[in-house]
Amino acid sequence: MNVLAIESSCDETAAAVVVDGRRELSSVVASQVEMHAGFGGIVPEVASRQHLRMIGPVIEQALAEAGCTLDEIDAVAATQGPGLAGALLVGFNAGKALAYGRQLPFLGVNHLEGHVYANWLSETPEPLFPALALVVSGGHTDLVFMERKGHYLRVGGTLDDAAGEAFDKVGRLLDLPFPGGPQIAREAEDGGTSDLSLPRAWLPGTMDFSFSGLKTAALHAVREARWTTVQIAWEFQEAVVDVLAGKTSRLSRELGAREVLVAGGVASNRRLREELQRRCPVPIRIPPPRLCTDNAAMIGAIAGQRLALGERTELDADIYTQNDWAAV
Ligand code: KG4
Ligand code: ZN
Repeated sequence: MNVLAIESSCDETAAAVVVDGRRELSSVVASQVEMHAGFGGIVPEVASRQHLRMIGPVIEQALAEAGCTLDEIDAVAATQGPGLAGALLVGFNAGKALAYGRQLPFLGVNHLEGHVYANWLSETPEPLFPALALVVSGGHTDLVFMERKGHYLRVGGTLDDAAGEAFDKVGRLLDLPFPGGPQIAREAEDGGTSDLSLPRAWLPGTMDFSFSGLKTAALHAVREARWTTVQIAWEFQEAVVDVLAGKTSRLSRELGAREVLVAGGVASNRRLREELQRRCPVPIRIPPPRLCTDNAAMIGAIAGQRLALGERTELDADIYTQNDWAAV
């Protein structure tokens, strides 16, 4: 089954054609990052307007690169939430219109479930259950236990900032271009141990995370002006990675997970990937970096599998901005 998938929840306009929820024929991502960089963050109205401009051309390009026409598409899927309302509406309505016009099945997809299912886009055997998913993006940091496919129990997560958000905010403190995550990672490549020690919020007895204290400590370190950008970036990244990898590996053991699935933009961080590989007692899966950050192939991955189970979304369904794992 060929699914045309659309993603527009934040600042990437993306479309992809995915076969049977496992094989990408194309994946086109039009990033708005440069448009927002001047503002130091994403401006929702600017994002919606740019999605409107790009959605048509991006869909056409995804079809062209897949070498197919709409006649060869069996279903349409689009991100339903969570995300920015105005941004979501563009892709979701484009998907519905295409499905209606072509009389095709339509599926609204949860963006975070999509991130997890980027792990299905490969030729390797499917992930084994029960699995523990670590979802680390710009808006979310969740530890989710998956007893079986499509079943989610949030067992922990951030109490304040998401990991990506913390990277972006500290990037701003360090005067690095937006988004801070990849920039901090780049600076930290040249770093190493120094006498700067930033706090790790272990929150004993819980599987939760907190990054706001770390962010404040980074602010004080910047103000003290004793350390270079590279030193602060390195220590900040180590502090985030330490807690994410430490808690994920411990919980995977405690819950008897057979695999750990890592997902979301921060999962493209090289140090996080290394530390998870090193510490987790069970096999871990992390998509290649281009499938960790926002894309539509991941939306096609989950959509293809849910469509095969007969699931559909009514055309009068609405978008949602907040996530609720229990409702996914
Ligand atoms: O999943 P994503 O593309 O969009 C959301 O759904 O939020 O994640 C974007 C987040 C941003 O906060 C960005 O700074 C972060 O992922 N990110 C990284 C890296 N690449 C992207 N954070 C740390 N290291 C990276 N290499
Ligand atoms: Zn995302």
